[in-house]
Amino acid sequence: MKYPKEYLEEIKLRLKVSTVVSKTVSLKKRGKEYVGLSPFKNEKTPSFTVNDEKEFYHCFATSEHGNIFDFVMKTQNLRFGEAVKQLANLAGMQPYIFSKQDEERENKWKVYSSIFYEYINFYHEELLKNKDYSIARDYLKNRSLDSDQVKKFKIGYIEKNPNFFEKLKNKFKIDDLLETGLFYFDEKKNIYLEKFRGRLIFPINNISGQPIALGGRIIEKKDFLAKYINSPETFFFKKGSNLYNLDFARKLSNKLESIFLVEGYMDVVGLSKNGIENVVANLGTSLTDKQILTLNQFFDDIIICFDGDESGYKAAVRAAENSIKELKPEKQISFLFLPDKEDPDSFVNKNGKNYFLDYSTQNKISIHQFIFSHYKKKTLNNPSSMAIFEKKLRFIANTIKDNFIKKYVLEYFLEKISDLTPHSNNKNKNYFIKKTKSLETTKKSFKESEALTGIELKEFSLLYLIINNLELLSNHFHLIENIKLFTKINKQIFEEILSKYKENKVIDKNNLNIDSQLIEKLTKFAPIKHILKNKTINDNTIIELLEDIKRDLNNYDLEFRIQELESKFSRDLSETTFNELKELKKKQNLN
Ligand code: CTP
Ligand code: MN
Repeated sequence: MKYPKEYLEEIKLRLKVSTVVSKTVSLKKRGKEYVGLSPFKNEKTPSFTVNDEKEFYHCFATSEHGNIFDFVMKTQNLRFGEAVKQLANLAGMQPYIFSKQDEERENKWKVYSSIFYEYINFYHEELLKNKDYSIARDYLKNRSLDSDQVKKFKIGYIEKNPNFFEKLKNKFKIDDLLETGLFYFDEKKNIYLEKFRGRLIFPINNISGQPIALGGRIIEKKDFLAKYINSPETFFFKKGSNLYNLDFARKLSNKLESIFLVEGYMDVVGLSKNGIENVVANLGTSLTDKQILTLNQFFDDIIICFDGDESGYKAAVRAAENSIKELKPEKQISFLFLPDKEDPDSFVNKNGKNYFLDYSTQNKISIHQFIFSHYKKKTLNNPSSMAIFEKKLRFIANTIKDNFIKKYVLEYFLEKISDLTPHSNNKNKNYFIKKTKSLETTKKSFKESEALTGIELKEFSLLYLIINNLELLSNHFHLIENIKLFTKINKQIFEEILSKYKENKVIDKNNLNIDSQLIEKLTKFAPIKHILKNKTINDNTIIELLEDIKRDLNNYDLEFRIQELESKFSRDLSETTFNELKELKKKQNLN
């Protein structure tokens, strides 16, 4: 008995080849592929590759090649059925129980599928060629679509009084025809009618590219008709499981990281016409977990771009709350809001591909930022409203399945809330405003020095030390070579000194090419001069002091990078960023 194709497809969809292979072979990422030591041969240099996009592995040493089922069969010496059972289990699916119904279903699918093929091909050809259908072709021309898009999306047109049913009736059983959802019986007139008559039709394909449903658009404005209708649910078409154009867009996942998720057929077609082909539509229904998971199989970055009107915004809020549950490390979901009254189709047609992509890069916001700002807008500045706000955000964060992401989204929300409630927030965030030890000098210069940041003062000390010990340090060049400065002017001075050293020139204070006012300023404020005053100075103390300052500056550098990463992390919540952050914090503690 054959496993139904969809069951096998579902397993493949849930399990990347690299996931399966890496259970037994240790893999390293190389570009879009993975490489490792072949499990089919003893080898020292890796000749075994895995390609998730193409859904296969290949061993260059032995020419072994196949999909996840082949891999399990060959490496564990199993039969096909056993491999399927094992992988279904790994994919978190129920074992497949064969029954008579399965056989029926398989046969049903064959019939269903061939009806759809015939139907779609017929009306597609009609749209392209039938001379009576110029009304439909004109409509498309008006929307500036040419036959390239019509062919790519296999768009068709059904006349108002079609009689294709009569032809199909000779070849298929009436019950089978009815089960496709393409026809219905009109009791009053006692005839079979085509549901999509008088409409342009857009085939909706399953992930392998086989048509399973239709969307239909009227071409003449009639208020009593819905602008779009979609196929009803059938045996093979379940709403909320499919995405329009996924079969095509997924093939781009080896080139592109992101996928645009839009509302409508025409948005997909319009973007595609403008050269943006990594796009799918959820067709006006609300976005489901399943759709998000499916997209994440192929793309790390989902950009949800609904219409720039109120209903588009509402749909986005619903989509955000639904999909944040599925947020995973390394995956991103963001939202792109278009100007009022625009939808992706109109916006890209007006502005073109590059503008659209730039606009997207600059304006998309990540899902947790969107959720925060949405609820914040609805919150008033009173205790009860604030309390509801915080509760709602905590609730949303708690729906996230991945614990790691849950923790950080919650942290992000709470941090943002604490920014709104400064009195209960006494964390000291002003790291850079902290002063370095400034010893007593005149009151005036203390006031002036207060305007300088801690880091500037540190840099002054460093420069002061160097400038007053130029000769000593020319013998210890390695000590100062790699110090990182932050303030523009100090950096310039420092670089000037370094370049003089590098030229091996004898330098003294007076032949440095530095504005004397700057030298005056740093001499005045460098806190270190007070330390130097109270010490017996020898070369060693100078070097020790220099090393102290260097360490402090390195810590500032770390702190800067940590702050940068923290803000990056709050945007992307990626595990990579988190790990980098952890590393830096560890380093900071060591210093
Ligand atoms: N939709 C639907 N039924 C409707 C209206 C819309 O099912 N009565 C779905 C369709 O899948 C449609 C999507 O919601 O593609 C977006 O609707 P809308 O923004 O109104 O359509 P557009 O994509 O802008 O299509 P067009 O440009 O052809 O008007
Ligand atoms: Mn629209």
